[in-house]
Amino acid sequence: MARILITGVSGLLGLNLAQEKMDTHEIIGVDRGRLAQAPFKIIKTDLLNSGAVDSVLDSAEPHWVINCAALADIDACEDTPELARLLNTDLPTQLAKACFKRGIKFLHLSTDAVFDGQRDGFYSELDVPNPQGVYARTKLEGEHAVLTEDPNGIVARVNFYGWSLSGRRSLGEFFFNNLTNNKSMSGFTDAIFCPMLVNDTARVLVRMLQKNLSGLYHLVGTQAMSKYQFGVEIARKFSLRESDISPRSIHTSNLSVKRSHNLSLSTSKVVMDLGTPIPEFSTGLNEFFTQNQQGYPQKIRSYQQ
Ligand SMILES: NC(=O)c1ccc[n+]([C@@H]2O[C@H](COP(=O)([O-])OP(=O)(O)OC[C@H]3O[C@@H](n4cnc5c(N)ncnc54)[C@H](OP(=O)(O)O)[C@@H]3O)[C@@H](O)[C@H]2O)c1
Repeated sequence: MARILITGVSGLLGLNLAQEKMDTHEIIGVDRGRLAQAPFKIIKTDLLNSGAVDSVLDSAEPHWVINCAALADIDACEDTPELARLLNTDLPTQLAKACFKRGIKFLHLSTDAVFDGQRDGFYSELDVPNPQGVYARTKLEGEHAVLTEDPNGIVARVNFYGWSLSGRRSLGEFFFNNLTNNKSMSGFTDAIFCPMLVNDTARVLVRMLQKNLSGLYHLVGTQAMSKYQFGVEIARKFSLRESDISPRSIHTSNLSVKRSHNLSLSTSKVVMDLGTPIPEFSTGLNEFFTQNQQGYPQKIRSYQQ
């Protein structure tokens, strides 16, 4: 049974990944103190503390490390660029170096937001990024450092939605929460992305490790759509009122950081190298719905301190 060390295990991806794989793998999560009674092993530490990376790796002795720790809030990155650099660039660099030295397989998460979104069609791994803002810039620098420090490492550019510890982390939850509370909200019609259910993301990531892939991969949903359309899909699936979502342009918003127009990524490379297709958007949305019916969001939130 492979032992997987998951950093950022309280986060949207980390927690769903741990939940998804804890029956078939030995999971050890790194948490700063947000989790109570998690059904897997926890090492409590702040990874920015001096010596924390080496000490966590030496005590856990994992076969694989999946780095889900990040400063993934775009506005927080603009407000605290130094912290963004520490978490999104320096920490992955350190992890990649330490994993390579120990012969541990390392998988790092990056983002579709490394692109400026000006292209028509789908971005491939060969397209040149042009990050807009501190988050995207520090993530791109993290990618480069990981691939330089660890020739066996994997970097996956992702975008996902799902049920989180706070109940408010993902765009899927944003639409679901507002729709169920009959609150009106807007959805951008000109911000295109490829949403993937986080549980699907988790399952494919582990397949990439099992296949011993290395290098840069795009791993997002199969269907490109606007954020508005994504909200409408959620409203329809949950039989909620889609008219509560107003279509809006990103140009009319007062967001502090520029959002990219088109973040459609091609997943041909990962599909080809794994030899299996990425689950359809509708399959993921059906699971998101069923999870809600079966009390999965409450289970996820019950791990909170
Ligand atoms: N969400 C998306 O759709 C999306 C899109 C593109 C890329 N990504 C990438 O996917 C990865 C996971 O994203 P996510 O949405 O799951 O992130 P998230 O929910 O914001 O979780 C981030 C995790 O990092 C942990 N962390 C922060 N500072 C830490 C520190 N000093 N020491 C230890 N842990 C620390 C957080 O712990 P606390 O709970 O204690 O703060 C949390 O567990 C990130 O690399 C992100 O850039 C996500």
